[in-house]
Amino acid sequence: MVQLQTTQLNLPPGMIHLGIGQPSPSLLPLDIMLKAAEHRLQQADPSLLAYGAEQGDVHFRMSLARFLSDKYHEDVDPHHLFITASASQGLDLITALFTKAGDTIFVEEPSYFLALRIFADHRLNVVGISMDADGLDVNALESELASHQPVFLYTIPTHHNPASVTLSPSRREQLLRLSRKHDFIIVADEVYHLLSYSEPPPRPLACGGDRGNVLSLGSFSKILAPGLRLGWIQGTPGLLEKLIWCGLVDSGGGLNPFTSGIVKSAIELGLLNEYLSHLHSVYAHRMGVLLSAIGEEFPESITFSEPKGGFFIWLRMPDDVNAEVILTEAWKQNVAFTLGTRFSSRGALKNFMRLSFALFAEEDLKTGARRLGRVLERHLPGS
Ligand SMILES: Cc1ncc(COP(=O)(O)O)c(C=O)c1O
Repeated sequence: MVQLQTTQLNLPPGMIHLGIGQPSPSLLPLDIMLKAAEHRLQQADPSLLAYGAEQGDVHFRMSLARFLSDKYHEDVDPHHLFITASASQGLDLITALFTKAGDTIFVEEPSYFLALRIFADHRLNVVGISMDADGLDVNALESELASHQPVFLYTIPTHHNPASVTLSPSRREQLLRLSRKHDFIIVADEVYHLLSYSEPPPRPLACGGDRGNVLSLGSFSKILAPGLRLGWIQGTPGLLEKLIWCGLVDSGGGLNPFTSGIVKSAIELGLLNEYLSHLHSVYAHRMGVLLSAIGEEFPESITFSEPKGGFFIWLRMPDDVNAEVILTEAWKQNVAFTLGTRFSSRGALKNFMRLSFALFAEEDLKTGARRLGRVLERHLPGS
């Protein structure tokens, strides 16, 4: 039977899938987009519907640079921004233009599972580097650099997906030093940087002096709406040049100029700023609810660290537990999570699971955690 599907989300009725990292449909800002679209369309400016400038409309880049400078507490230069059709598209484009099949790249172990899919599409040789509570283990990175020459390292430095940790400031400096010494690019996926709920994160990897090796991916998916398919890459003009003047962007006239024009109004009318504060309070609340529910409902042998932002909680079960068995049982109880193995570049992490507090509101988070807690109690040794 042909499925009549409108959105990516396609859950059976009653299923609380705690693994999905997408905003609830009820959180999506239709009102803001309506106001922003009216504001922009009433300007009667036909350039909105023309092929766009390759790098992205300079006026949009200026608004975005002001917004980011305010949020990052760092100067962001509009000439250091390239507008993309989302972080995924930006990552695919970087991979297409900077690598060829068989090249080696480094990722974190664990890493964002769909970035691993993009790297597989490009037939890259992917080497995983371990992480700990302070993010990427830069000593492990240095050891791997003795035997590999990666084109780039893909890292999620702030509120990591799935591990929810943040790379410490000193490790950021060490990483930058290693990238210069060993001549590899740092592709920093910073899509959760603006979703910090308690303390401000360290400065983004793309900001500061001597950042010639960094390409930083940003996205409106997490701070406004994923359906916009709009994002940016921050980097120095030397690195951005390859992206700006590639065939895809030249032929298409920039990436997503119409949406850029409308989001420009959302920024200039202060709507994005207001919405982001709203998201902070909603997600911080949901995160607290899910953390307490886990504390009450899950066996003590499950360990995790408390996130300070982002969408995720990354949980470790005892080493001999296979999360796949738990997931099969969980589905029967109308609850699910994302398997740790999906985030591994080498088929490891069998005893890990990722939960998210982005999709469901308080009551469902509590019910989901209760259901999953019961399954875990039945399956974990010694519970
Ligand atoms: C780390 C990371 N990068 C990229 C994306 C996708 O971003 P976009 O919607 O901008 O393609 C996600 C979404 O889950 C993510 O977690």
